[in-house]
Amino acid sequence: MQSVKHIAIIMDGNGRWAKKQGFLKRIKGHEVGATRVRELTIHASNIGIKYLTLYAFSTENWKRPKAEVTFLMSLLEEYLKKELPLFLDNNIRFETIGDLSKLSSSLQNQVALTKEKTAHFTGLTQVLAINYGAKDEMIRAMNKAIKVGKELSEESFDALLDTKNMPPVDIMIRTGGDKRLSNYLLWQSAYSELFFTDTLWPDFSNEELDSMIEKFRKIERRFGGLT
Ligand code: FPP
Repeated sequence: MQSVKHIAIIMDGNGRWAKKQGFLKRIKGHEVGATRVRELTIHASNIGIKYLTLYAFSTENWKRPKAEVTFLMSLLEEYLKKELPLFLDNNIRFETIGDLSKLSSSLQNQVALTKEKTAHFTGLTQVLAINYGAKDEMIRAMNKAIKVGKELSEESFDALLDTKNMPPVDIMIRTGGDKRLSNYLLWQSAYSELFFTDTLWPDFSNEELDSMIEKFRKIERRFGGLT
């Protein structure tokens, strides 16, 4: 049986969900999506997952209408403020990946505070990918190596990535029907099992996650070798 340490999710379909429900604004989908983040995090923690990495805002998402970008940024800040007890009560550590330097200073401060207050927890680590793009992450890592004139190995490259110290992704999930990785954890998902579902993110249930984990456990992973 395969053990599941790291699950990564591309939470797609919020806008379509809002439209389907008859809401006039796409942002309602993000708002309900944030409540799914909360519920799924508790569930992942309860079933013993070690890392849950969620694509909250990509390096490409800045191209969205300004009002939506502003809404997403304030939703993230509100989420961190509101959900601190969720982390504290459930032994959940908070981490991020992505280039935070482009975020407002109040969001950066909230991120830093949440990390600081949860750094000692040993259960699930919830990782939010904020202003994250795999290409950007890899370029930043390579530039760090160039600066010190260092030749890279797989191990030393790993250690320069935002995901340093995290295990590779076991299960990569994308909701919302599209079948692509959209610049998400490209290095870390080299041997991930990929799960694509038509379910829109706000409808993604704990049970659907459980059935993906069940399927994963039955898959034989050979990592390029033979068994
Ligand atoms: C994609 O749906 C989703 C995003 C770009 C943002 C993800 C954000 C959340 C789930 C909510 C906030 C998260 C946290 C952690 C509080 P889309 O808008 O592209 O949907 P569409 O494809 O239907 O238009």
